[in-house]
Amino acid sequence: QPKLTSVKALAEAPGLSSLPSSHTFPIHPNDEQLPVSDTNESIPTVDFSLLTSSNPDVRSKMIQELGNACQDWGFFMVTNHGVPESLVNEMIEACRQFFELTEEEKAEYEGKHVLDPIRSGTSFNASVDKVLYWRDYLKIFQHPEFHSPNKPPAFREIAMEYSRRVRQVAKELIRGISQSLGLEDHYIEKAVNLENSLQIMIANLYPPCPQPKLAMGLPTHSDHGLVTLLIQNGIRGLQVQHNGKWVNVDPIPNSFLANIGDHVEILGNGKYKSVLHRAVVNNRDVRISIALSNGPALDSAISPASKFLEDGRSPPAYRAMKYKEYVELQQSNKLDGKSCLERIRNTRI
Ligand code: SIN
Ligand code: FE2
Repeated sequence: QPKLTSVKALAEAPGLSSLPSSHTFPIHPNDEQLPVSDTNESIPTVDFSLLTSSNPDVRSKMIQELGNACQDWGFFMVTNHGVPESLVNEMIEACRQFFELTEEEKAEYEGKHVLDPIRSGTSFNASVDKVLYWRDYLKIFQHPEFHSPNKPPAFREIAMEYSRRVRQVAKELIRGISQSLGLEDHYIEKAVNLENSLQIMIANLYPPCPQPKLAMGLPTHSDHGLVTLLIQNGIRGLQVQHNGKWVNVDPIPNSFLANIGDHVEILGNGKYKSVLHRAVVNNRDVRISIALSNGPALDSAISPASKFLEDGRSPPAYRAMKYKEYVELQQSNKLDGKSCLERIRNTRI
């Protein structure tokens, strides 16, 4: 038996009409922070087919738009990415089937250490979360070494192909981001040893919640790594901080929702911000989201590109740190509504 009951089992228990106290926030994060935007602000779009165009003018125009998206929002939709819709749907279905396994079967993957290659569980970091989040998860390291649960049987093959395809998209985005920062297009790739990059799949399950206003799916956080690419089952729930408000993100079909991570913020010495986001829950629909985090190699130490330090005599805004240590720092603490970057920021004297 797992140490903690999954949210899925709680949600499916007969007669559940109110939220268990274990998952109830005394002061809901919704009320103590920023207002939720009521306007339909739209996340920028990056057309991947134009970003990878052989026509240099077309490509450079798209790189400029990519740079604007990174600067203004830190989030953008990636369209025309070439990853088949059928593969995306199969990946979502395989994750749904994983969550349908029995509690005993899933408990086999209950990870002990944040660097365990397969971890399944509930909340964010259940050992330190005072109030539990209304979320079950499966986290798998997929690169440089590919791992997969053995159940459901189709998972391995689908995930292997999906992660490979997403890595290709991520690599092109990273080249574009590098160029948009005024760096050589291969700069980031080399600086982070992208050939050995750590890629993690994070599948999230948010069952219908009896009192969604008193619960949270995932707390406010920024992502470690370079770029995260998200797919979801058509149910909204992600909110992104923008201009002092929370903005609901409704993804457009057949696209990835991309965001830059803390390590792009570090490499650009703060030029692009790794934007805070969170997941809220609802009382009707099961929501599934699958994030693929694409980061540096675990043993590569990341610090601001020298270009940003030379030009305005600006000091490095962040301490150099190995990616492995950063991931451990972020994952083994409570997500407390702040970016983990605060822990390595150099304060000005
Ligand atoms: C995430 O921040 O990792 C994903 C949140 C979501 O959309 O479920
Ligand atoms: Fe995230």
